[in-house]
Amino acid sequence: MSEVEIQGCEMIRGWLSQRCGIHYPEHKMELLRQRLSRVQRAFTVPTLHDLARRLSSDASHELQLAVMHAASTNHTYFFREPEVLQHFRSAILPGLAQRDEIRIWSAACSSGEEAYTLAIMIAEDYGLGALKRTAILGTDISAPVVDQAEAGLFSEHRLAHVPADLQRKYFEPAGLAQYRIRAELRACCTFRQMNLKTTPYPFRKAFQTVFCRNILYYFEQADQIATLNAIHDVTEPGGWLVTSVTENIRDLPSRWQPVDNGIHRKGGH
Ligand SMILES: C[S@@+](CC[C@H](N)C(=O)[O-])C[C@H]1O[C@@H](n2cnc3c(N)ncnc32)[C@H](O)[C@@H]1O
Repeated sequence: MSEVEIQGCEMIRGWLSQRCGIHYPEHKMELLRQRLSRVQRAFTVPTLHDLARRLSSDASHELQLAVMHAASTNHTYFFREPEVLQHFRSAILPGLAQRDEIRIWSAACSSGEEAYTLAIMIAEDYGLGALKRTAILGTDISAPVVDQAEAGLFSEHRLAHVPADLQRKYFEPAGLAQYRIRAELRACCTFRQMNLKTTPYPFRKAFQTVFCRNILYYFEQADQIATLNAIHDVTEPGGWLVTSVTENIRDLPSRWQPVDNGIHRKGGH
């Protein structure tokens, strides 16, 4: 890469960190360059330097969204990290199920597998009727994955972690080796585009549980702390935060009380 291109890449790296909290360490610069080349082709932007200039000056919203989408890792799958899900299911969900409304936020939901996994667990343990008083919000910075989540359509290989009996119960064939999540589950899940870096979060009613998994480790520490605190603000007293088991937030100065691996609680219950 020429000096000018390296400079362009550095500028975009700074833009991503500032706008989305996504931090690309030095050793991942080549990956960033490859990901950005897709945006360059789609928007016919000849060089990284041009792309950086357009982002910092007259960037269209579409171009900004495309850069955010290209730079983010959307990898996700159903029933990811069974140990934290099991903890949620056995120790937290029974309490939520007694409430008039179950309110859960899947922050950084990608294509919706996490939100739908939670809906499946609620349907399994408390019946499809419980979904009528369940509201699961999924949000992500990347517009294309939010659209995919909303559609609730998954190709066969994406169901690999869904046990066969649950596949039969909760997915309907939709042709071309695609499966659509059942209408009752789709009805209780809402998906929106939202940047976790823009705080405070605009919710009127507090959540009982927030899932924020496999995103914090892309953030720099200051953004991790700001995100944890902003989630704390929109969680009810005694409410829960579920992170990935690989994201240890214990050492960060946040207001969350550690309970178990990946499980944290807000005080005041
Ligand atoms: C690796 S996926 C995690 C999906 C799911 N939570 C899971 O654990 O399987 C990370 C997601 O975070 C999203 N993301 C990255 N930066 C974000 C930000 N600033 N605000 C909201 N979402 C963001 C990405 O678009 C991506 O879909």
